[in-house]
Amino acid sequence: MDTGLSGLLLLLCALPWAEGGKVLVIPMEGSHWLSMRDVTKELHAQGHQIVVLAPDVTLHIKGEDFFTFKTYAFPYTNEEYQEKVLGNIKKAFETQDTVKLFFESMEALRNFSELYTNSCVALLYNKTLIQQLNSSSFDVILTDPIFPCGAVLAKYLQIPAVFFLRSIPCGIDYEATQCPNPSSYVPRLLTTLSDHMSFLQRVKNMLYPLTLKYICHISFSPYERLASELLQREVSLVEVLSHASVWLFRGDFVLDYPRPIMPNMVFIGGINCANRKPLHQEFEAYVNASGEHGIVVFSLGSMVSEIPEKKAMEIAEALGRIPQTVLWRYTGPRPSNLAKNTILVKWLPQNDLLGHPKARAFITHSGSHGIYEGICNGVPMVMMPLFGDQMDNAKRMETRGAGVSLNVLEMTADDLENALKAVINDKSYKENIMRLSRLHKDRPIEPLDLAVFWVEYVMRNKGAPHLRPAAHDLTWYQYHSLDVIGFLLAIVLTVVFTVFKCCAYGCRKCFGKKGRVKKSHKSKTH
Ligand SMILES: *[C@@H]1O[C@H](CO)[C@@H](O)[C@H](O)[C@H]1NC(C)=O
Ligand SMILES: *[C@@H]1O[C@H](CO)[C@@H](O)[C@H](O)[C@H]1NC(C)=O
Ligand SMILES: *[C@@H]1O[C@H](CO)[C@@H](O)[C@H](O)[C@H]1NC(C)=O
Ligand SMILES: *[C@@H]1O[C@H](CO)[C@@H](O)[C@H](O)[C@H]1NC(C)=O
Repeated sequence: MDTGLSGLLLLLCALPWAEGGKVLVIPMEGSHWLSMRDVTKELHAQGHQIVVLAPDVTLHIKGEDFFTFKTYAFPYTNEEYQEKVLGNIKKAFETQDTVKLFFESMEALRNFSELYTNSCVALLYNKTLIQQLNSSSFDVILTDPIFPCGAVLAKYLQIPAVFFLRSIPCGIDYEATQCPNPSSYVPRLLTTLSDHMSFLQRVKNMLYPLTLKYICHISFSPYERLASELLQREVSLVEVLSHASVWLFRGDFVLDYPRPIMPNMVFIGGINCANRKPLHQEFEAYVNASGEHGIVVFSLGSMVSEIPEKKAMEIAEALGRIPQTVLWRYTGPRPSNLAKNTILVKWLPQNDLLGHPKARAFITHSGSHGIYEGICNGVPMVMMPLFGDQMDNAKRMETRGAGVSLNVLEMTADDLENALKAVINDKSYKENIMRLSRLHKDRPIEPLDLAVFWVEYVMRNKGAPHLRPAAHDLTWYQYHSLDVIGFLLAIVLTVVFTVFKCCAYGCRKCFGKKGRVKKSHKSKTH
């Protein structure tokens, strides 16, 4: 009976993988979800069953017809959540002294981290939910490891995981993939360094991660505790994340600097550009009315919708001084000095507008989604980075001559006006962004298809253990071959020592005799 059952199971496993698989998606809030949503939609179109699991309070994750939406109780109300998340983003616009800013950011980070940890506890410690998920036999978990809860769940339920991310601070992503990451030419996150560094910059590049370690500790250690409790042994976050079969990075080497990668790292930067529709009539009318000067698209991303009144007025003043029509995504109170050429909208089809030939410039907070939409549509940018990797993105585009970066806190109306006029009128910006755009789009397969392929690959092959480097099974001294170097050094030293001793002995014998002979000779002649 037992052998019959296992035979049947074997037969079932050997059947070709014909009908759709089951995908569990555990997304991260904010813009992170927006491009993951496109992958989810495409996976559904390929005939897979998708379940999206999210807390019942979110900003952007809503039920849609191409997946089953499953929620778990979030331990906060909608108001508390909005205030905790968006309230902190507002602070990015306030000028403060650095020490105060540092402590406030730390506190905000701790609050933020606590929020997400509690959400993760609500998921992982809900027995009914875990049992349901375990018995649904998912083929793969697709998750953003910046919210490591999905990664912990994948390890706990032993389901193959595909990670979808931009990056994780402190190089945790490279540790967890065992990817070489030399600080001599790979600039660290948040340093705004390039890949060509002077000696002092390399010192900064090496020391910077040490200061960030503390921040990563605050953000990620709760998940280590959770994972250790569930798995009933001590596990690090790196170990949890190293469970992933494939890592889909939202980057490419047009924006990022060339660096070593591993066989299970796939680059799908620009994936969000695929989502292109014809312009909505309302917006087409604005574009048509803009005449020969064209339009400027202005958005500070999906998380920032209000900025301090004084700053908004400065911006409005600068926008009024250019001949282009400006479409500004802004939900705050209307600045009193708003000029006729500036149209405030609650939402705008950013990628569709940038794709229009009349788009002359893009004012952006330089989040990675916006940057890629600027690149693939070839629109020069004026960048106002606010937090996270935005500073790095802005720096990269600026050094490639594809845009101008401004400091939101310090800039004046004149600065913004000059920056806009420069990127619109100076042809070099357009030429540079068009070159980047051509390079970015010169590829054998579209990023969305590539992402879908790899998710299906992991489902078909039940993971990808053959892509996993053996480096994961080594200790740090084995990895750096310190034991081998030590062993060889010991041999060399032994040989050198023996040879030396032999020589010394030989010499003593030789010269010792002669000395004695001489001595005896001397004594004889004496
Ligand atoms: C952090 O949370 C505490 C308690 O909920 C709150 O009093 C404090 O203002 C929050 N700090 C920040 C920076 O959000
Ligand atoms: C646990 O999850 C189930 C299924 O999603 C849900 O109905 C239930 O309310 C959750 N229980 C708690 C205590 O959150
Ligand atoms: C999931 O189900 C399997 C088989 O039914 C069982 O062995 C395993 O302990 C379950 N895992 C969890 C975390 O409940
Ligand atoms: C905009 O102009 C195009 C081309 O001239 C025209 O086909 C389209 O109908 C116009 N759209 C609107 C909304 O006016």
